Amino acid sequence: MQQAEIGLIGLGVMGSNLALNIAEKGNRIAVFNRTPARTDEFLGEAGDLAGQIIGCHTIEEFVAAIRPPRPIIIMIKAGEAVDQQMAALLPHLAKNDIMIDAGNANFRDTVARFEKLAGTDVTFIGMGVSGGEEGARHGPSIMVGGTEESWKRVEPVLTSIAAKFNDEPCVAWLGTDGAGHFVKTIHNGIEYADMQMIAEIYGILRDGLKMSAAEIGDIFGQWNKGRLNSYLIEITEKVLKATDPETGKAMVDVIVDSAGQKGTGKWSAIEAQNLAVAASGIEAAVAGRVLSSLREERIAAEKLFGLPGLPEAPKDKAAFIADLENALLAAKIAAYAQGFAVMSSASEEFNWSLPMPTIANIWRAGCIIRSQFLDEITAAFTKDPDVANLVVTPAFAAMVKETDGALRRVVAHPVLSGLPVPALASALSYFDTYRRSGNGHPLEGEPARRFRLSRLRLA
Ligand code: 6PG
Repeated sequence: MQQAEIGLIGLGVMGSNLALNIAEKGNRIAVFNRTPARTDEFLGEAGDLAGQIIGCHTIEEFVAAIRPPRPIIIMIKAGEAVDQQMAALLPHLAKNDIMIDAGNANFRDTVARFEKLAGTDVTFIGMGVSGGEEGARHGPSIMVGGTEESWKRVEPVLTSIAAKFNDEPCVAWLGTDGAGHFVKTIHNGIEYADMQMIAEIYGILRDGLKMSAAEIGDIFGQWNKGRLNSYLIEITEKVLKATDPETGKAMVDVIVDSAGQKGTGKWSAIEAQNLAVAASGIEAAVAGRVLSSLREERIAAEKLFGLPGLPEAPKDKAAFIADLENALLAAKIAAYAQGFAVMSSASEEFNWSLPMPTIANIWRAGCIIRSQFLDEITAAFTKDPDVANLVVTPAFAAMVKETDGALRRVVAHPVLSGLPVPALASALSYFDTYRRSGNGHPLEGEPARRFRLSRLRLA
């Protein structure tokens, strides 16, 4: 039997969809699941693609089915299970085989796994995959970290399954060991900030302007045709227009307003702090989720403190809604600038040489934060890959100058009325602090010195 080009362990939703995507693009794939019955079920679900898939019931059978050097994707729950799976697989592998962890791993675990395998014949790739279930099935954005040789072995398969933006595949090798998972983590941190800012704008429209979910959905639909065009704005419209079949009410009004988190946003904030990079938008988003989860405490606090009386809604509603659109754009610029600044600092700290234009490039399609905006970020970083901060690139500086007034007006309104806008307010403070020269101490004639808190970290 013809051997498979690649193997995959873990036939949960993400693993199954990734395997079907790989098979659909003409690659032969071997699959293995801890529960053999799931492998049979999966082959039954694969339809016409089953001919491209070798279902295996034992690890021995699975390994023998893959062409050496064998790339093996492990798509299981992040954490200890990955270490257990790797330990079970290792004795069956041979020189230059590659274990690929495709889950949302903490990059520090990825670095440790990479080092652990360094003394063996087997190598390791930490691979960030974004786009959820749909992306895995039809084209995710893929962020790869590992050795260049191992990347070369997997490049053709990964290129075939990745999302395409103007025919360019959204996959890249970003550096050694934890580079791919680090970039995926920061992608998620930016995703957290983006979602928090969207939620804050929704809150202003709902509580400040007393609009219904469906009316707000229409506004997001309009914005999706303009500069905010993105997957998150698109699904916000859909979510706000969805109704609960039981009550007939807007779905968003019957869902408990309490968010959880799997960890990537928190790791982004922690790593930003470790690197002494200001990432206040990501931090505000993580704190927003944490506070949202304290539902009972919030209810009790509202009883204790009451709510401030709402001031009158802005007189010119249309102008205020236009301000909200511009404010969201301005705040987004701050969040992305912060995310890229964290990656730039990490690149130096961990010797990765992370390519900023390439990262923006592969986030333009497939991933959760995909947007028109990322195409503009790609252009800005391509012109100036080493720029200190995205906000000072000519294109983004022009956008900030155009929109920061709107952000200021928008933040002022909820602050006076007691509506929480932590991420929007943090974006405004970020700009206001970043652009101040401070005490006027002259720089001329002095060597440029950057006070790096990270260098002072305690061991
Ligand atoms: C993606 C997503 C996906 C998920 C995160 C965040 O890129 O496909 O980021 O990975 O949204 O795991 O999950 P939480 O929001 O639950 O932490």
